[in-house]
Amino acid sequence: MIPGLPPARLHHVGILVPDLMEALRFYRDTLGLSGGEPHEAATHDIRAALLDLGESHLELFAPLTADGPIARALAKRGAGMHHVCYEVDDITAALAGCRDAGVQLIDERPRPGLHAGWQVAFLHPRSCGGVLTELVEIGAPRPGGER
Ligand code: CO
Repeated sequence: MIPGLPPARLHHVGILVPDLMEALRFYRDTLGLSGGEPHEAATHDIRAALLDLGESHLELFAPLTADGPIARALAKRGAGMHHVCYEVDDITAALAGCRDAGVQLIDERPRPGLHAGWQVAFLHPRSCGGVLTELVEIGAPRPGGER
């Protein structure tokens, strides 16, 4: 068992889409999910919307630029389920625990996530049954943080 990971909670499932507004029309208007205020995270090259699903969320995200890393991922792999994100209480401890357990890390240290106050780190799909896995610690939004 990895110290710092339990009690992890499912925070969101990330879905990569070509067009955020078109995806929102389906998930909000057709399926009836609430939330989903679109916002741009320029340093991540992402336009995203977080829909509410009880205690968890759906994270729809689309490329912000036509030739950035997200557009390239979309061209390479197509739209669809992209990653699963677990919320932890202490991401530094969880990440260290993952490293000590031999989990292949994409991020060696936590970095700012899509929303103010989020610290995130990704684990390699090779260590997670083929699933790109994100850890998030939700902290208080800091002044000047990305929204
Ligand atoms: Co995510």
